[in-house]
Amino acid sequence: MPLSTIMFVGSARSNSHTKVLAEAIKKSLESRGVSVEIIDLFSLQLPPSDPTFHKDPTIHSNSKVSKLAQKANTTDSFVFLSPVYHNSYSALLKNALDNLAIAQFAGKAVGLASHGGHRTSQVVDHLRIVTRGLNAIAIVSQVCADESDFAGENETLVLVNDEIFQRIGRFTDELIRVGIALKQSRVTH
Ligand SMILES: Cc1cc2nc3c(=O)[nH]c(=O)nc-3n(C[C@H](O)[C@H](O)[C@H](O)COP(=O)(O)O)c2cc1C
Repeated sequence: MPLSTIMFVGSARSNSHTKVLAEAIKKSLESRGVSVEIIDLFSLQLPPSDPTFHKDPTIHSNSKVSKLAQKANTTDSFVFLSPVYHNSYSALLKNALDNLAIAQFAGKAVGLASHGGHRTSQVVDHLRIVTRGLNAIAIVSQVCADESDFAGENETLVLVNDEIFQRIGRFTDELIRVGIALKQSRVTH
C-alpha cells in the first residue's frame, strides 16, 4: 500500500540544519517508495492562526492556509521538524499546526525530529504532547541531530554522521510500518 507524507520544517531561516535533516529523511522515505512533500514554513509565511477557521481550515480566506489544509487532509502521515528554540519547538511550527485542526491529523502517523541543543530531546518530547492533542499517533523512533552531525555551512551544509543516517533508516521504517497500519485501519473502518 503506497504511503504519502508531509514534512513541516520549522526553522525561521533558510540554509537551516533542520531543512538539511528534513532532506535526508525525505531521501530515506523516497528510497522506500513513500511520496514526500517538504513544506518549508519559513518560505511559506503563513498568517497568524485565525480561530474563525479552526472548525474548517479548508475554507480559510487565506489561500496558503486553505491549500495547506487540503493537502494535509489527503496525506497519510506527517513529519514535524524543528530547531531547538528556548528549550522547545519553534513558533513557526506551532503556528502552522494552529492554522490546521484535528481533522487533518486524526488517526495518522507522525514522525518527530529536531536539530540543536546537543541532541536534546526537548523538542520532540514537547511535540509528542502536541501530537496527542491532534489525535495523531507519534512513532516511537525519533531523530535529534546537532551541529557536530553536519559539515559545511549555508548552501554547502550536509549531514555527515553515519549514526544519524542509521537512526533515520529506523525512523523511516517505523513511520512506514505504523503509517500503513493506520491507513489500512482508516480504510477498513
Ligand atoms: C529564537 C531562538 C532560540 C534558541 N534557543 C535555543 C535553546 O534554547 N537551546 C539551544 O541549544 N539553542 C537554541 N537556539 C539555537 C538554535 O537551536 C540553533 O541555532 C540551530 O542551529 C538552529 O537550527 P537551524 O539551523 O535549523 O535554523 C535558539 C535559536 C533561536 C533563533
